[in-house]
Amino acid sequence: MLSPQRRQTREQPVSSLTSCVGRWLCSRRPSLWVLLIILIICIAIQIFVAHQTGHAKLMGPQHLTANKQQLFPTLQNILESFDPEILRGTQSLETLRKNRTADSYNRRPQDPVLSRQVDKMVPLETEPQSEAGKLSLVGLLLTKLDNKPRLDLSHSLVPQRVGTYLSEDTEQRLSNSPSPSSPLKAGGETACLPKSHIVFLKTHKTASSTILNILYRYGESRNLTFALPVKRQMQLFYPHFFAERFVEGAVGRNVKEFHIMCNHMRFIKSEVAKVMPEETFYFSILRHPVVMMESIYTYYKSIPVFRKSFSMDNFLDNSLRNQVSTVSTNHYAHNVLAFDFGLENNVTADSSDLEERARRAVAAIERDFQLILISEYFDESMILLKHTLCWSLEDVVYFKLNSRSEGSRQPPLPVTAEKIKRWNALDWRIYLHFNATFWHRVESLIGTEQVKREVDALRELQAKLAKTCLKDGGAVHPAKVKDVRMKPYQSGKAVIQGYNLNPLTDIQMRNKCQKLITPELQYTKLLYNKQFPGFHD
Ligand SMILES: *[C@@H]1O[C@H](CO)[C@@H](O)[C@H](O)[C@H]1NC(C)=O
Ligand SMILES: *[C@@H]1O[C@H](CO)[C@@H](O)[C@H](O)[C@H]1NC(C)=O
Ligand SMILES: *[C@@H]1O[C@H](CO)[C@@H](O)[C@H](O)[C@H]1NC(C)=O
Ligand SMILES: *[C@@H]1O[C@H](CO)[C@@H](O)[C@H](O)[C@H]1NC(C)=O
Repeated sequence: MLSPQRRQTREQPVSSLTSCVGRWLCSRRPSLWVLLIILIICIAIQIFVAHQTGHAKLMGPQHLTANKQQLFPTLQNILESFDPEILRGTQSLETLRKNRTADSYNRRPQDPVLSRQVDKMVPLETEPQSEAGKLSLVGLLLTKLDNKPRLDLSHSLVPQRVGTYLSEDTEQRLSNSPSPSSPLKAGGETACLPKSHIVFLKTHKTASSTILNILYRYGESRNLTFALPVKRQMQLFYPHFFAERFVEGAVGRNVKEFHIMCNHMRFIKSEVAKVMPEETFYFSILRHPVVMMESIYTYYKSIPVFRKSFSMDNFLDNSLRNQVSTVSTNHYAHNVLAFDFGLENNVTADSSDLEERARRAVAAIERDFQLILISEYFDESMILLKHTLCWSLEDVVYFKLNSRSEGSRQPPLPVTAEKIKRWNALDWRIYLHFNATFWHRVESLIGTEQVKREVDALRELQAKLAKTCLKDGGAVHPAKVKDVRMKPYQSGKAVIQGYNLNPLTDIQMRNKCQKLITPELQYTKLLYNKQFPGFHD
């Protein structure tokens, strides 16, 4: 049992310290040795995981705090992870890693920003053996942690590294058809690569301003390039059909690559595709057409057809409806969802070809968009978005923007609701279809229970942020917004609420809070100035 060196040590009386330790060790039973080895392994894992925390820091401190507990596994967790089932998971990870190493350069993500990050973090081709050992160890921990709810693999532990060597899995996610037989799909979470080429069709009065803020924050914090309207416009010349020349820097290619396009436009895929790369992810959001009509009527009270009416019922009953097609801004009054998607909006329940046109509308949207969210289920929508884009919970947390005060809301009576459904029959069909597919998607991609847990986590995070950031704990009347630069744009009869910030000393936190409440117009301006610093009006 004794090694030759140890025997030697015993024979050297001068080295009293080593001989002392040696004697102490030998006098104990072999089980002590086993314990010592386990202890060393544990320390090595802790050091490695702590090292990875440094990487997590690069992704922003928020990721760190959110996942701190998972980043530092307890001794029990580590011991638990040595069970046969998990070891099988490690083997498949090993195989995947080898496959990845073999053709890591062929399968490099096309996204240059991500590639750059990957390059920094994964020098796979020069990877030493010890690095490989660490990887499989992380694989072991990942497989274990994967079973826990609300774990964000994509951004917590070794985000880019995992995304990179699990290329098979990533490709499944990118093609939007997660495989149920995926070796890593344990708790509904898979490792994947965050998407950063995105088109969001910003529809009207659908909580889309809140999504815009999410996209602005995501892109700004990662230095992504936005396809912004030319000449400091706030919209992409809505209600005209979108054209490439509407985007600053697109014609003449002053900007080499665009990542995110999300300002109001009337959608037309062929033109958008001239600006955005092929792998771009397209999504949008719908809202219940009855609630939407009420909101639009209040917000756009100033457009000609609404101005002539004294109430929405009056508008719906009246011959005013026949004037809708005559003035350019009147499209707001009729099937505005279909209109925003670039479809003809002149359909009612009385149109003889309603069914056929509804079918074609749905088919067109399904062809051009990978994901359609539903405003009525906004938090579920954010969770579904997070999963499809492979983002973290932090990335989709929000404060409601551009929302009306309760005082300016008037839920329509049932009889009015029926009239709206008939008048906006096309929007109504589109909504019914995508509400159904939305829930189907939630169920198949995340699962009903899991989505509930994640919605709870999102609301918890939101409440925590509100407590830190917001002076009054929530939205206030625009007249009470102290910082005039943060006052939201007001329109029609609607009262659009704003926020006041707590005085915060932590600059990073203050900055984050500020961005969360920055209204659309102000944020668009800010991004324009950042992206085109030399341009002046
Ligand atoms: C690794 O690659 C080989 C051949 O390229 C393939 O047959 C095998 O299924 C791959 N393994 C995994 C786990 O993807
Ligand atoms: C974004 O750009 C700024 C200024 O060029 C730089 O300091 C910062 O590190 C960049 N951030 C990321 C995430 O690349
Ligand atoms: C709807 O509008 C389009 C063009 O905007 C027109 O060609 C078509 O005839 C209209 N259909 C009906 C039923 O009014
Ligand atoms: C949308 O789908 C949910 C879930 O299936 C359902 O409860 C709800 O009634 C649907 N909404 C409409 C307007 O049909």
